[in-house]
Amino acid sequence: MQLINGTKVIRVKQSYDLVQLEEAGRIIRGGGLVAFPTETVYGLGGNALDPMVAASIYAAKRRPADNPLIVHVARPQEIMGLVRDVPPVADRLIKRFWPGPLTLVFAASDCVPKETRGGLSTVAVRMPAHPVALALIEMSGCPLAGPSANISGRPSPTTAEHVVNDLAGRIQMIIDSGPTGVGVESTVLDVTVTPPQILRPGGLTLEQLREEISSISVDPAIIQTSIPRGIKARAPGMKYKHYAPKAELVVVEGRPADIVAKICILYDDYVNRGKRVAIMATTETIHCYGARKASLVGAREDLATVAANLFSLLRQLDAEGIQIILAEGVDMVGLGLAVMNRLRKAAGYRIIKA
Ligand code: TXA
Ligand code: MG
Repeated sequence: MQLINGTKVIRVKQSYDLVQLEEAGRIIRGGGLVAFPTETVYGLGGNALDPMVAASIYAAKRRPADNPLIVHVARPQEIMGLVRDVPPVADRLIKRFWPGPLTLVFAASDCVPKETRGGLSTVAVRMPAHPVALALIEMSGCPLAGPSANISGRPSPTTAEHVVNDLAGRIQMIIDSGPTGVGVESTVLDVTVTPPQILRPGGLTLEQLREEISSISVDPAIIQTSIPRGIKARAPGMKYKHYAPKAELVVVEGRPADIVAKICILYDDYVNRGKRVAIMATTETIHCYGARKASLVGAREDLATVAANLFSLLRQLDAEGIQIILAEGVDMVGLGLAVMNRLRKAAGYRIIKA
């Protein structure tokens, strides 16, 4: 155990010993906050049924209180107390994809405080595929509200160190189980509408969802290429500036060869103006940039690697004092939909077509 600014940091392997989580469970039962690993990103856990806890989560994250929290459960049956109705489509999706990176939006029961719901009549619920997360929920004896464990607006944390940088001194405990696997947050799917609609693309892809329910649609707000005007995002969180590094981020989109050519021109131009620039490049293109500073985010051929490294690379480039990040766009298929949604938002929709 390490103490950083009053926050306890404990290391818990995936092959954990329950004793290690006793104190974490006690903290949550006492109304405190514990950051915990999930398969997507680290979450900031607290009792989802306690309105005071929801308020302290918003305060710790400096998050607007109208942005609802995802409720994490350890078993599918636990949704019964939280929701008014489980539509048959939700039942099918739960059987197929839980535990996993799929959050479902239901009509909320009165047990879920309006603070947790951000004032909405619905509640978002998921069962994470991480043994430590599931054990922590069991130990706490209550469902856990779990937003990503970052200061609001910053890239989501994929390591405990990211959580320490954002939240040490603001919460009671951080459970360190190493880097998360998926790297982008869960897919948020509204099952109160027909057909069900994706409100936030994430770790479970549209293609995977459509294997089970072919009619699933996508909220137009998540594939936009400019700052939302006419279209209103239905997941309240999607309307805020998000995932943003301190550096200025520009996304260059098009065919890979055109992207490389455009990025070289932009890079040289910024360098001539005295800026510290870095390129977020892919395995397939990184050798094309010569002596320019290019950092590897992952492979176009395997977008899971891009998703896994995206947020941590943004944080790393910030730590290196980079002022301008030129990011290669990737295809919006599979995990590419979530990657591009996060990149465009992080860039504040500064998108250049190559
Ligand atoms: O992978 C994840 O989902 C992570 C891990 C920790 O589980 N959690 C996470 O939570 O990303 P957060 O709070 O950072 O993002 C939740 C998103 C927000 O965009 C929020 O607006 C949306 O889900 N959301 C939550 N409840 C909702 C509801 N009732 N209706 C529509 N959108 C909702
Ligand atoms: Mg978040």
